[in-house]
Amino acid sequence: MIEQLQNVYALHTDRTTYCFAVTAQGFLQHLHYGRRIDLSAGAAPLLPQEHHAPGNAAVMEGAFLETLLQETSSPGLGDLRESQVAVRMADGDTLTDFRFEHADILQEKPALSGLPSAYDESGRAETLRVSLLEKKGRLRLTLFYTVFEDCDVISRRAELTNLMDQSVTVLRLMSNQVDFDRQDLVMTSFNGAWAREFEPTHTPCGAGVVVSESRCGVSSNRANPFVMLHAPCATEEHGDCYGFHLIYSGDHRACACGNAYGALRFLHGIQPDGFSWLLEGGETFAAPEAAMTWGDGFAAMSRGLHRFVREHIVRGEWKRRERPVLVNSWESLYFRFNHHALVKLAGQGKHLGAELFVLDDGWFGKRDSDTCSLGDWTTVHKKKLPRGLAGLARDINALGMLFGLWVEPEMVSEDSDLFRAHPEWILGRRDQAVGRNQYVLDMGRREAQEHLIEALSRVFAAANISYVKWDMNRIITDDYSAALPPERQGESRHRYVLGLYHVLDELTKRFPHILFEACASGGNRTDLGMLSYMPQVWLSDNTDALCRCRIQYHASFGYPQSVMGAHVSGSPNHQTLRRTPVSGRFHVAAMGLLGYECDLRELSHDEKLQVASQIEFYKQHRAALQFGDLHRLQGGEGGIWQMSCVSKDREEAVTLLFQQENRPNAGAVRLRARGLERECAYRISVLPVKVALKDFGGLVNMISPVHIRQDSLMQTIAEKVIAPKSESEDMTATGDLLMTCGAYVKQSFSGTGWDAETRVMGDSGSRLYILKKQ
Ligand code: DGJ
Repeated sequence: MIEQLQNVYALHTDRTTYCFAVTAQGFLQHLHYGRRIDLSAGAAPLLPQEHHAPGNAAVMEGAFLETLLQETSSPGLGDLRESQVAVRMADGDTLTDFRFEHADILQEKPALSGLPSAYDESGRAETLRVSLLEKKGRLRLTLFYTVFEDCDVISRRAELTNLMDQSVTVLRLMSNQVDFDRQDLVMTSFNGAWAREFEPTHTPCGAGVVVSESRCGVSSNRANPFVMLHAPCATEEHGDCYGFHLIYSGDHRACACGNAYGALRFLHGIQPDGFSWLLEGGETFAAPEAAMTWGDGFAAMSRGLHRFVREHIVRGEWKRRERPVLVNSWESLYFRFNHHALVKLAGQGKHLGAELFVLDDGWFGKRDSDTCSLGDWTTVHKKKLPRGLAGLARDINALGMLFGLWVEPEMVSEDSDLFRAHPEWILGRRDQAVGRNQYVLDMGRREAQEHLIEALSRVFAAANISYVKWDMNRIITDDYSAALPPERQGESRHRYVLGLYHVLDELTKRFPHILFEACASGGNRTDLGMLSYMPQVWLSDNTDALCRCRIQYHASFGYPQSVMGAHVSGSPNHQTLRRTPVSGRFHVAAMGLLGYECDLRELSHDEKLQVASQIEFYKQHRAALQFGDLHRLQGGEGGIWQMSCVSKDREEAVTLLFQQENRPNAGAVRLRARGLERECAYRISVLPVKVALKDFGGLVNMISPVHIRQDSLMQTIAEKVIAPKSESEDMTATGDLLMTCGAYVKQSFSGTGWDAETRVMGDSGSRLYILKKQ
């Protein structure tokens, strides 16, 4: 709900209020963002009573912009913090002074052309449009605030219109600005690199500048565009927690900039360094949309963001559809496959219960390694696939499985027909640093966009394709665009993103039934821009259960599990060489969108049985695991992680307990709970796992009548005959008790005794517990 109380505008969601006032001079003075407040008896206490200019501060018609909390900012007026807007006029002038013109409350969200944006099917989301005119009448700045009440999210964006008949250079137009009257906040950003995405970095804010940004052309695994500002002692349950998203897939910057008066300005938008945009007379430049929420505790913050992503970002036929369990060919076959091997792998998958088979890299041109053929999408690798994609899809469909395909359309290999025909289509110069032997196509070029739309349409229509994995395997380094004049070179990276969005928009409209999954060497482009076209993302190339548990846990601060592709891969793991039992790999992958990426043909008979029952279990609980409420219950304290997916109707919860290392004699472990119905009783059980006799080493000889040597034939035989079962659990308690106290689970193996009810988990060990309402 948006209300206007004289000169105050207040935006209310179910639990939050965001409000600002228009000052006598026409500046927008920020008043409050956080817990919902009642303004019906006035807003006066929110206005600082400062009338005397502080010391040597600059005064603008009685206003001290250096201290004023504002909704927008521009340089040259005495506000020394980084600003939201900066332009350079044709004569070099950079001072712009925006004053309130008018504001209106819209019942419909105005369209944002060329960029993805949040949408609202219910028609309840109101938008406040505020227009500010530059004092000399040269520019108009329009700010948009949309209120998504159901999920406590407010989105913001900005547009700049050139009212002159000569051009102006936009140096920055940040999407979001929130001024806080406190500096005791911590910025948590999610940094990392390939295969170690979403590592949280906690930086206390203060009088300086704290920055999290990407400069590699994509939203990046170096610094995800999602960041949080929170009270230093905030917990899952309590404390001010602000979450900020940017609906954008290119370079970005989030910064918290403190001033000398204890204030902090948060800015979020396109990375301004190196960016510029030549705005001709009459033209408008639109910044991407940003989204923010406040919650009392991280749990409340994430709950709002998860709902926002599920309801207002992800769209299309797959929005609410349960996602199929897939088998992906990459880590089992890499580039070495043929029609027969693929059908065999798929057949094994089908036998075990999988529903979709995905052919990854290596199916086109003469691609037998990563040195060639990117760009040659319409030429199938005839040697590997003599019956073409259509023939393969037919055989996969005949097994009763859907068929999916990998593509990496934004890239071109030097050794490709596309590059030979259009060397001028690459972004940057020929002698640039290359990544994975490939160049980036200049997606800002109309002709490259049109080519991709047509070429990929042919591919997607040539076979019965139900799923597409859209990859992007290098960072952008040199951004010189041969298609742009010198004065527009600062536009190339943003034009790249706009071009990409145009291609995605067109293809997803042409092929609405296809389930698209975004991938960029794993999680190098996990953002709400991509999720506006593709309902899910391959979160990381790292499928090691321990690493994945951390990655998924931390990603969940900003993203729901319904967008996280998570696979069971081989052991030893291909990224870490760590060995984890197939049960543990499944437990972690089950907290996302389940897939298998190991060579199912080579699993032992016993492992196959396990996989079959994993898939059966997953399907039974899929609604809760994919679309239920995800709760973080323990974040690595004591080496233990707990996450739980609670079904929408709160009938059941599936909880992951993961332990990094087996510490003997480490004390009892409590299973934690959240999101249950307090007054209802829940019965707890544990998903049984296979306990391997050989994991007990020489200890078996303490009870064995004959001596069993490790790795001997005798051990293999004994393993078959004596299959120790894992412990069981059977407890019933109210949701209230479980959420307040948790439930002690069976004792962990501690080196001093074992019986059938001992929990044997080992390093990187795990369990899934099921809580069923009685
Ligand atoms: C990088 C992706 O993240 C992998 O899953 C796989 O698709 C490879 N690219 C294929 O080249």
